[in-house]
Amino acid sequence: MDVKVLRGRVLSFLEEPQAIDDVASYRYIEDGAVVVGGGKILMIGEFNAKAAAQHEVIDHRPYLVMAGFIDPHIHFPQMQVIGSYAANLLEWLNTYTFVEEQRFADPAHSTRIASKFFDELIRHGTTTASAYCTIHPNSVDAFFGEAAKRDMLMLGGKVMMDRNAPAGLCDTPQSGYDESKALLEKWHGQGRAHYVITPRFAITSSHEQMEMAEALAREYPDNHIQTHVDENLAEVEFARELFPNLPDYLGIYERYHLLGPKTLLGHCIHLTHRECEVLAATRSVAVWCPTSNLFIGSGLFDHDRLHAHGARIAVATDVGGGSSYSMLRTLDEGYKVMQLRGQRLNPLRSFYMMTLGNARALSLEGRIGALTPGADADLVVLDARATPQMALRMEAVDSLANELFLLQTCGDDRAVAETYVMGRAMKSGLGAQGRVSALPSPLEGEGGA
Ligand code: GUN
Ligand code: ZN
Repeated sequence: MDVKVLRGRVLSFLEEPQAIDDVASYRYIEDGAVVVGGGKILMIGEFNAKAAAQHEVIDHRPYLVMAGFIDPHIHFPQMQVIGSYAANLLEWLNTYTFVEEQRFADPAHSTRIASKFFDELIRHGTTTASAYCTIHPNSVDAFFGEAAKRDMLMLGGKVMMDRNAPAGLCDTPQSGYDESKALLEKWHGQGRAHYVITPRFAITSSHEQMEMAEALAREYPDNHIQTHVDENLAEVEFARELFPNLPDYLGIYERYHLLGPKTLLGHCIHLTHRECEVLAATRSVAVWCPTSNLFIGSGLFDHDRLHAHGARIAVATDVGGGSSYSMLRTLDEGYKVMQLRGQRLNPLRSFYMMTLGNARALSLEGRIGALTPGADADLVVLDARATPQMALRMEAVDSLANELFLLQTCGDDRAVAETYVMGRAMKSGLGAQGRVSALPSPLEGEGGA
Protein backbone atom coordinates (compact mmCIF):
# COMPACT_ATOMS: atom_id res chain seq x y z
CA MET A 1 0.00 0.00 0.00
CA ASP A 2 1.16 3.52 -0.85
CA VAL A 3 1.34 5.07 2.65
CA LYS A 4 1.95 8.81 3.06
CA VAL A 5 2.38 10.91 6.17
CA LEU A 6 0.91 14.40 5.90
CA ARG A 7 2.60 16.53 8.53
CA GLY A 8 0.96 19.78 9.61
CA ARG A 9 -1.28 21.48 12.14
CA VAL A 10 -4.11 18.97 12.20
CA LEU A 11 -7.68 20.03 12.98
CA SER A 12 -10.78 17.86 12.97
CA PHE A 13 -14.23 18.34 14.47
CA LEU A 14 -15.82 15.86 16.84
CA GLU A 15 -19.07 17.64 17.58
CA GLU A 16 -20.96 20.82 16.77
CA PRO A 17 -19.15 23.66 18.61
CA GLN A 18 -21.44 25.42 21.06
CA ALA A 19 -19.25 28.49 21.58
CA ILE A 20 -15.99 30.04 20.41
CA ASP A 21 -14.19 28.48 23.40
CA ASP A 22 -15.73 24.99 23.02
CA VAL A 23 -12.41 23.11 22.95
CA ALA A 24 -14.16 19.77 23.46
CA SER A 25 -15.79 20.03 20.02
CA TYR A 26 -12.59 19.46 18.05
CA ARG A 27 -9.18 17.84 18.09
CA TYR A 28 -6.19 20.02 17.29
CA ILE A 29 -2.60 18.78 17.06
CA GLU A 30 0.05 21.47 16.66
CA ASP A 31 2.70 19.14 15.15
CA GLY A 32 0.38 16.49 13.84
CA ALA A 33 0.35 13.75 11.25
CA VAL A 34 -2.41 12.30 9.11
CA VAL A 35 -1.33 8.91 7.81
CA VAL A 36 -3.09 7.98 4.58
CA GLY A 37 -2.97 4.81 2.49
CA GLY A 38 -5.23 2.94 0.09
CA GLY A 39 -7.41 6.04 -0.19
CA LYS A 40 -8.22 5.96 3.53
CA ILE A 41 -7.12 7.75 6.66
CA LEU A 42 -5.12 5.14 8.58
CA MET A 43 -4.38 7.17 11.70
CA ILE A 44 -3.93 10.66 13.06
CA GLY A 45 -1.79 11.77 15.96
CA GLU A 46 1.37 13.61 16.97
CA PHE A 47 4.04 13.55 14.29
CA ASN A 48 6.58 10.86 15.14
CA ALA A 49 9.82 11.10 13.12
CA LYS A 50 10.84 7.54 13.86
CA ALA A 51 7.53 6.01 12.84
CA ALA A 52 7.32 8.24 9.77
CA ALA A 53 10.83 7.43 8.56
CA GLN A 54 9.76 4.42 6.49
CA HIS A 55 7.10 6.41 4.57
CA GLU A 56 6.91 9.40 2.28
CA VAL A 57 6.43 12.49 4.48
CA ILE A 58 4.81 15.60 3.04
CA ASP A 59 5.50 18.52 5.30
CA HIS A 60 2.63 21.01 5.23
CA ARG A 61 3.73 22.98 8.31
CA PRO A 62 2.72 25.68 9.22
CA TYR A 63 -0.52 25.07 7.33
CA LEU A 64 -3.71 23.59 8.76
CA VAL A 65 -4.71 20.11 7.60
CA MET A 66 -8.47 19.50 7.77
CA ALA A 67 -11.17 17.34 6.20
CA GLY A 68 -12.05 18.54 2.69
CA PHE A 69 -14.90 21.00 2.27
CA ILE A 70 -18.38 19.77 1.36
CA ASP A 71 -20.79 21.77 -0.81
CA PRO A 72 -24.29 20.28 -0.59
CA HIS A 73 -26.02 22.46 -3.22
CA ILE A 74 -24.44 23.52 -6.51
CA HIS A 75 -25.42 23.60 -10.20
CA PHE A 76 -22.57 22.36 -12.37
CA PRO A 77 -24.19 23.59 -15.65
CA GLN A 78 -24.20 27.15 -14.31
CA MET A 79 -20.46 27.81 -14.47
CA GLN A 80 -21.04 30.32 -17.26
CA VAL A 81 -24.02 31.89 -15.49
CA ILE A 82 -22.20 33.19 -12.39
CA GLY A 83 -22.48 36.96 -12.09
CA SER A 84 -25.48 37.40 -14.40
CA TYR A 85 -27.27 40.71 -13.88
CA ALA A 86 -30.95 40.23 -12.95
CA ALA A 87 -33.58 41.82 -10.72
CA ASN A 88 -34.77 38.62 -9.05
CA LEU A 89 -34.80 34.83 -9.12
CA LEU A 90 -37.40 34.23 -11.83
CA GLU A 91 -35.85 36.82 -14.16
CA TRP A 92 -32.40 35.32 -13.52
CA LEU A 93 -33.67 31.80 -14.29
CA ASN A 94 -35.55 32.76 -17.45
CA THR A 95 -33.02 35.20 -18.89
CA TYR A 96 -29.78 33.32 -18.30
CA THR A 97 -30.03 29.97 -16.59
CA PHE A 98 -32.68 28.26 -18.70
CA VAL A 99 -30.90 29.53 -21.83
CA GLU A 100 -27.48 28.27 -20.73
CA GLU A 101 -28.73 24.88 -19.55
CA GLN A 102 -30.07 24.08 -23.03
CA ARG A 103 -26.48 23.96 -24.27
CA PHE A 104 -26.03 20.72 -22.33
CA ALA A 105 -27.93 18.86 -25.03
CA ASP A 106 -24.43 18.71 -26.55
CA PRO A 107 -22.33 15.98 -24.87
CA ALA A 108 -19.08 17.77 -25.78
CA HIS A 109 -20.25 20.86 -23.91
CA SER A 110 -21.31 18.77 -20.90
CA THR A 111 -17.93 17.05 -20.73
CA ARG A 112 -15.95 20.25 -21.13
CA ILE A 113 -17.88 22.03 -18.35
CA ALA A 114 -17.89 19.00 -16.03
CA SER A 115 -14.12 18.76 -16.33
CA LYS A 116 -13.69 22.43 -15.50
CA PHE A 117 -16.21 22.10 -12.67
CA PHE A 118 -14.21 19.47 -10.78
CA ASP A 119 -10.97 21.34 -11.35
CA GLU A 120 -12.62 24.42 -9.85
CA LEU A 121 -13.89 22.48 -6.82
CA ILE A 122 -10.40 21.11 -6.23
CA ARG A 123 -8.85 24.57 -6.51
CA HIS A 124 -11.26 25.71 -3.78
CA GLY A 125 -10.70 22.75 -1.46
CA THR A 126 -14.11 21.18 -2.03
CA THR A 127 -13.90 17.40 -2.20
CA THR A 128 -17.61 16.47 -2.15
CA ALA A 129 -20.64 18.25 -3.59
CA SER A 130 -24.28 17.59 -4.32
CA ALA A 131 -24.96 18.93 -7.79
CA TYR A 132 -27.89 19.55 -10.07
CA CYS A 133 -27.20 18.48 -13.66
CA THR A 134 -29.59 19.47 -16.50
CA ILE A 135 -32.54 17.52 -17.90
CA HIS A 136 -30.16 15.90 -20.41
CA PRO A 137 -28.95 12.41 -19.40
CA ASN A 138 -25.59 13.13 -21.04
CA SER A 139 -25.01 15.91 -18.48
CA VAL A 140 -25.27 13.31 -15.72
CA ASP A 141 -22.93 10.95 -17.57
CA ALA A 142 -20.43 13.80 -17.96
CA PHE A 143 -20.78 14.74 -14.29
CA PHE A 144 -20.21 11.28 -12.85
CA GLY A 145 -17.72 10.34 -15.56
CA GLU A 146 -15.46 13.29 -14.81
CA ALA A 147 -15.90 12.77 -11.03
CA ALA A 148 -14.83 9.14 -11.47
CA LYS A 149 -11.66 10.20 -13.31
CA ARG A 150 -10.73 12.16 -10.20
CA ASP A 151 -12.11 9.55 -7.79
CA MET A 152 -14.24 12.21 -6.08
CA LEU A 153 -17.24 11.41 -3.86
CA MET A 154 -20.04 13.21 -5.66
CA LEU A 155 -23.80 13.35 -5.38
CA GLY A 156 -25.88 14.50 -8.31
CA GLY A 157 -28.83 13.93 -10.55
CA LYS A 158 -30.73 14.85 -13.67
CA VAL A 159 -33.19 17.67 -13.00
CA MET A 160 -36.78 16.68 -13.67
CA MET A 161 -38.77 19.61 -15.13
CA ASP A 162 -41.77 19.49 -17.45
CA ARG A 163 -43.34 22.96 -17.44
CA ASN A 164 -42.73 26.71 -17.08
CA ALA A 165 -39.44 26.43 -18.92
CA PRO A 166 -38.38 26.49 -22.60
CA ALA A 167 -39.36 23.40 -24.61
CA GLY A 168 -35.67 22.54 -24.99
CA LEU A 169 -35.44 22.20 -21.23
CA CYS A 170 -38.51 20.11 -20.55
CA ASP A 171 -38.88 16.36 -20.18
CA THR A 172 -42.23 14.65 -19.57
CA PRO A 173 -43.44 12.84 -16.46
CA GLN A 174 -42.67 9.52 -18.14
CA SER A 175 -39.33 10.42 -19.75
CA GLY A 176 -38.20 12.21 -16.57
CA TYR A 177 -38.96 9.08 -14.59
CA ASP A 178 -37.43 6.65 -17.10
CA GLU A 179 -34.25 8.66 -17.59
CA SER A 180 -33.78 9.31 -13.88
CA LYS A 181 -34.25 5.63 -13.10
CA ALA A 182 -31.83 4.54 -15.83
CA LEU A 183 -29.21 7.04 -14.63
CA LEU A 184 -29.69 5.99 -11.01
CA GLU A 185 -29.24 2.33 -11.95
CA LYS A 186 -26.22 3.18 -14.06
CA TRP A 187 -24.33 5.41 -11.63
CA HIS A 188 -25.48 4.97 -8.03
CA GLY A 189 -22.86 3.02 -6.11
CA GLN A 190 -20.39 3.03 -9.02
CA GLY A 191 -17.17 3.98 -7.26
CA ARG A 192 -18.02 7.00 -5.16
CA ALA A 193 -21.12 8.14 -7.09
CA HIS A 194 -24.41 8.83 -5.30
CA TYR A 195 -27.45 9.45 -7.47
CA VAL A 196 -29.84 12.15 -6.21
CA ILE A 197 -33.49 12.25 -7.31
CA THR A 198 -33.82 15.85 -8.48
CA PRO A 199 -37.23 17.43 -9.21
CA ARG A 200 -35.93 20.98 -9.79
CA PHE A 201 -38.71 22.79 -7.89
CA ALA A 202 -42.50 22.78 -7.74
CA ILE A 203 -42.79 25.52 -10.38
CA THR A 204 -41.21 23.41 -13.12
CA SER A 205 -42.87 20.09 -12.23
CA SER A 206 -46.51 19.25 -12.95
CA HIS A 207 -48.67 17.20 -10.61
CA GLU A 208 -47.99 14.19 -12.85
CA GLN A 209 -44.25 14.70 -12.65
CA MET A 210 -44.35 15.12 -8.88
CA GLU A 211 -46.14 11.77 -8.75
CA MET A 212 -43.35 10.23 -10.83
CA ALA A 213 -40.73 11.71 -8.48
CA GLU A 214 -42.71 10.24 -5.59
CA ALA A 215 -42.74 6.82 -7.28
CA LEU A 216 -38.99 6.97 -7.82
CA ALA A 217 -38.38 8.01 -4.21
CA ARG A 218 -40.54 5.12 -3.01
CA GLU A 219 -38.65 2.63 -5.20
CA TYR A 220 -35.26 3.94 -4.07
CA PRO A 221 -35.66 4.98 -0.42
CA ASP A 222 -31.90 5.07 0.18
CA ASN A 223 -31.27 7.73 -2.45
CA HIS A 224 -31.12 11.41 -1.67
CA ILE A 225 -33.68 13.88 -3.02
CA GLN A 226 -32.83 17.50 -3.76
CA THR A 227 -35.02 20.46 -4.68
CA HIS A 228 -35.60 24.16 -3.97
CA VAL A 229 -38.15 25.74 -1.63
CA ASP A 230 -39.12 29.19 -0.30
CA GLU A 231 -36.26 31.06 -1.95
CA ASN A 232 -38.01 34.17 -3.24
CA LEU A 233 -41.44 35.72 -2.51
CA ALA A 234 -42.66 35.78 -6.13
CA GLU A 235 -41.55 32.15 -6.49
CA VAL A 236 -43.49 31.19 -3.33
CA GLU A 237 -46.61 32.91 -4.67
CA PHE A 238 -46.32 31.19 -8.07
CA ALA A 239 -45.75 27.76 -6.51
CA ARG A 240 -48.81 28.20 -4.31
CA GLU A 241 -50.94 29.20 -7.31
CA LEU A 242 -49.83 26.04 -9.12
CA PHE A 243 -50.76 23.81 -6.16
CA PRO A 244 -53.67 25.78 -4.70
CA ASN A 245 -55.15 23.31 -2.26
CA LEU A 246 -52.06 22.76 -0.17
CA PRO A 247 -51.18 24.67 3.01
CA ASP A 248 -47.86 26.12 1.84
CA TYR A 249 -44.86 25.60 -0.48
CA LEU A 250 -43.21 22.88 1.62
CA GLY A 251 -46.62 21.25 1.79
CA ILE A 252 -46.25 20.47 -1.92
CA TYR A 253 -43.22 18.24 -1.34
CA GLU A 254 -44.92 16.83 1.76
CA ARG A 255 -47.99 15.93 -0.34
CA TYR A 256 -45.82 13.83 -2.68
CA HIS A 257 -43.91 12.20 0.20
CA LEU A 258 -40.63 13.77 -0.83
CA LEU A 259 -39.55 14.91 2.65
CA GLY A 260 -37.26 12.92 4.94
CA PRO A 261 -33.72 12.64 6.32
CA LYS A 262 -32.21 12.34 2.84
CA THR A 263 -34.02 15.35 1.41
CA LEU A 264 -31.95 18.47 0.73
CA LEU A 265 -34.05 21.65 0.45
CA GLY A 266 -32.21 24.57 -1.07
CA HIS A 267 -32.78 28.04 0.47
CA CYS A 268 -35.66 27.79 3.02
CA ILE A 269 -35.81 31.56 3.49
CA HIS A 270 -39.51 32.41 3.55
CA LEU A 271 -40.80 29.57 5.72
CA THR A 272 -44.04 29.75 7.70
CA HIS A 273 -44.19 28.44 11.24
CA ARG A 274 -45.84 25.26 9.96
CA GLU A 275 -43.12 24.75 7.38
CA CYS A 276 -40.43 25.05 10.07
CA GLU A 277 -42.22 22.39 12.07
CA VAL A 278 -42.61 20.05 9.09
CA LEU A 279 -38.97 20.54 8.14
CA ALA A 280 -37.85 19.58 11.64
CA ALA A 281 -40.33 16.73 12.10
CA THR A 282 -39.36 15.05 8.80
CA ARG A 283 -35.59 15.52 9.52
CA SER A 284 -35.25 17.11 6.08
CA VAL A 285 -32.23 19.36 5.60
CA ALA A 286 -32.47 23.12 5.06
CA VAL A 287 -29.58 24.10 2.78
CA TRP A 288 -28.54 27.69 3.36
CA CYS A 289 -26.92 29.41 0.35
CA PRO A 290 -25.76 32.83 1.56
CA THR A 291 -23.85 34.17 -1.45
CA SER A 292 -26.76 33.24 -3.71
CA ASN A 293 -29.41 34.70 -1.44
CA LEU A 294 -27.54 37.99 -1.25
CA PHE A 295 -26.57 38.10 -4.93
CA ILE A 296 -30.08 37.33 -6.24
CA GLY A 297 -31.63 39.41 -3.47
CA SER A 298 -33.77 36.55 -2.18
CA GLY A 299 -33.57 37.31 1.53
CA LEU A 300 -31.77 36.61 4.80
CA PHE A 301 -31.82 32.99 5.99
CA ASP A 302 -33.01 32.80 9.61
CA HIS A 303 -30.48 30.37 11.04
CA ASP A 304 -31.42 30.68 14.69
CA ARG A 305 -35.14 30.29 14.05
CA LEU A 306 -34.57 26.98 12.26
CA HIS A 307 -32.04 25.89 14.84
CA ALA A 308 -34.56 26.59 17.60
CA HIS A 309 -37.06 24.37 15.76
CA GLY A 310 -34.47 21.59 15.82
CA ALA A 311 -34.18 21.59 12.02
CA ARG A 312 -31.10 20.18 10.32
CA ILE A 313 -29.09 22.87 8.54
CA ALA A 314 -26.38 22.64 5.86
CA VAL A 315 -24.55 25.44 4.05
CA ALA A 316 -23.70 25.58 0.35
CA THR A 317 -22.55 27.80 -2.53
CA ASP A 318 -25.46 27.40 -4.98
CA VAL A 319 -23.17 28.34 -7.87
CA GLY A 320 -24.22 29.90 -10.34
CA GLY A 321 -26.87 31.80 -8.30
CA GLY A 322 -24.10 31.78 -5.74
CA SER A 323 -21.15 33.95 -6.64
CA SER A 324 -18.21 31.86 -5.39
CA TYR A 325 -17.07 28.24 -5.36
CA SER A 326 -15.30 28.92 -2.08
CA MET A 327 -16.80 27.59 1.13
CA LEU A 328 -14.65 30.22 2.89
CA ARG A 329 -16.35 33.03 0.94
CA THR A 330 -19.71 31.29 1.53
CA LEU A 331 -19.33 31.22 5.31
CA ASP A 332 -18.03 34.79 5.28
CA GLU A 333 -21.27 35.92 3.64
CA GLY A 334 -23.20 33.63 5.97
CA TYR A 335 -21.57 35.32 8.94
CA LYS A 336 -22.71 38.72 7.62
CA VAL A 337 -26.27 37.48 7.05
CA MET A 338 -26.39 36.38 10.67
CA GLN A 339 -24.88 39.69 11.83
CA LEU A 340 -27.69 41.54 10.03
CA ARG A 341 -30.19 39.36 11.91
CA GLY A 342 -28.48 39.98 15.25
CA GLN A 343 -27.27 36.36 15.35
CA ARG A 344 -23.76 35.03 15.98
CA LEU A 345 -21.75 32.55 13.95
CA ASN A 346 -18.48 31.70 15.62
CA PRO A 347 -15.57 30.54 13.44
CA LEU A 348 -15.39 27.09 14.99
CA ARG A 349 -19.00 26.52 14.03
CA SER A 350 -18.33 27.84 10.50
CA PHE A 351 -15.55 25.34 9.91
CA TYR A 352 -17.61 22.59 11.52
CA MET A 353 -20.42 23.39 9.07
CA MET A 354 -18.14 23.25 5.99
CA THR A 355 -16.89 19.80 7.03
CA LEU A 356 -18.52 17.52 9.61
CA GLY A 357 -21.78 19.49 9.74
CA ASN A 358 -22.34 19.14 6.00
CA ALA A 359 -21.23 15.48 6.11
CA ARG A 360 -23.90 14.83 8.72
CA ALA A 361 -26.48 16.71 6.67
CA LEU A 362 -25.67 14.35 3.78
CA SER A 363 -25.78 11.28 6.08
CA LEU A 364 -22.13 10.66 5.17
CA GLU A 365 -20.56 11.01 8.61
CA GLY A 366 -17.84 8.41 9.10
CA ARG A 367 -16.89 8.47 5.42
CA ILE A 368 -16.10 12.17 4.96
CA GLY A 369 -16.09 15.40 6.96
CA ALA A 370 -13.66 14.45 9.73
CA LEU A 371 -10.17 12.99 10.05
CA THR A 372 -11.04 9.65 11.58
CA PRO A 373 -9.29 6.35 10.89
CA GLY A 374 -11.23 4.44 8.26
CA ALA A 375 -12.68 7.57 6.66
CA ASP A 376 -11.90 8.45 3.05
CA ALA A 377 -8.69 10.49 2.75
CA ASP A 378 -10.26 13.69 1.39
CA LEU A 379 -8.44 16.65 2.89
CA VAL A 380 -7.73 20.32 2.49
CA VAL A 381 -4.57 22.18 3.51
CA LEU A 382 -5.14 25.82 4.45
CA ASP A 383 -2.68 28.71 4.47
CA ALA A 384 -3.84 31.68 6.56
CA ARG A 385 -0.92 33.75 5.19
CA ALA A 386 -1.91 33.24 1.56
CA THR A 387 -1.89 36.94 0.62
CA PRO A 388 0.31 39.80 1.85
CA GLN A 389 -2.55 41.35 3.80
CA MET A 390 -3.47 38.01 5.39
CA ALA A 391 0.18 37.42 6.34
CA LEU A 392 0.36 40.84 7.96
CA ARG A 393 -2.92 40.29 9.80
CA MET A 394 -1.72 36.88 10.98
CA GLU A 395 1.11 38.58 12.89
CA ALA A 396 -1.58 39.79 15.31
CA VAL A 397 -3.57 36.53 15.48
CA ASP A 398 -3.17 34.71 18.79
CA SER A 399 -5.60 31.77 18.67
CA LEU A 400 -6.80 28.98 16.42
CA ALA A 401 -10.33 30.44 16.40
CA ASN A 402 -9.03 33.80 15.22
CA GLU A 403 -6.91 32.15 12.53
CA LEU A 404 -10.02 30.35 11.26
CA PHE A 405 -11.94 33.61 11.34
CA LEU A 406 -9.23 35.29 9.25
CA LEU A 407 -9.31 32.42 6.77
CA GLN A 408 -13.08 32.82 6.49
CA THR A 409 -13.10 36.59 6.29
CA CYS A 410 -10.22 37.13 3.86
CA GLY A 411 -9.59 33.70 2.36
CA ASP A 412 -10.55 32.15 -0.97
CA ASP A 413 -8.94 29.62 -3.31
CA ARG A 414 -5.55 31.27 -2.70
CA ALA A 415 -5.71 30.04 0.90
CA VAL A 416 -6.07 26.43 -0.27
CA ALA A 417 -2.49 25.18 -0.41
CA GLU A 418 -3.43 21.63 -1.37
CA THR A 419 -6.48 19.42 -1.83
CA TYR A 420 -6.26 15.65 -1.37
CA VAL A 421 -8.77 13.23 -2.84
CA MET A 422 -8.48 9.63 -1.63
CA GLY A 423 -4.99 10.49 -0.39
CA ARG A 424 -3.83 11.91 -3.72
CA ALA A 425 -2.63 15.52 -4.00
CA MET A 426 -4.96 17.05 -6.58
CA LYS A 427 -4.57 20.82 -6.55
CA SER A 428 -0.85 20.82 -7.27
CA GLY A 429 -1.58 18.25 -9.96
CA LEU A 430 -3.91 20.55 -11.87
CA GLY A 431 -0.92 21.95 -13.75
CA ALA A 432 -1.28 24.37 -16.60
CA GLN A 433 -4.94 23.49 -17.12
CA GLY A 434 -5.82 25.04 -13.78
CA ARG A 435 -4.02 28.29 -14.48
CA VAL A 436 -5.77 31.24 -16.07
CA SER A 437 -2.64 32.00 -18.10
CA ALA A 438 -3.03 28.71 -19.94
CA LEU A 439 -6.46 29.59 -21.29
CA PRO A 440 -6.78 30.84 -24.87
CA SER A 441 -7.77 34.44 -25.51
CA PRO A 442 -11.55 35.09 -25.56
CA LEU A 443 -11.39 35.73 -29.31
CA GLU A 444 -10.06 32.25 -30.00
CA GLY A 445 -12.65 30.57 -27.77
CA GLU A 446 -12.14 27.05 -26.54
CA GLY A 447 -13.94 24.00 -27.81
CA GLY A 448 -16.38 26.18 -29.76
CA ALA A 449 -18.65 28.98 -28.49
N1 GUN B 1 -34.83 27.43 -8.21
C1 GUN B 1 -35.04 26.58 -9.23
N2 GUN B 1 -33.92 26.42 -9.97
C2 GUN B 1 -32.99 27.20 -9.40
C3 GUN B 1 -31.63 27.47 -9.73
O1 GUN B 1 -31.06 26.96 -10.69
N3 GUN B 1 -30.99 28.34 -8.90
C4 GUN B 1 -31.59 28.92 -7.83
N4 GUN B 1 -30.89 29.75 -7.06
N5 GUN B 1 -32.87 28.69 -7.52
C5 GUN B 1 -33.56 27.85 -8.30
ZN1 ZN C 1 -29.99 25.90 -6.52
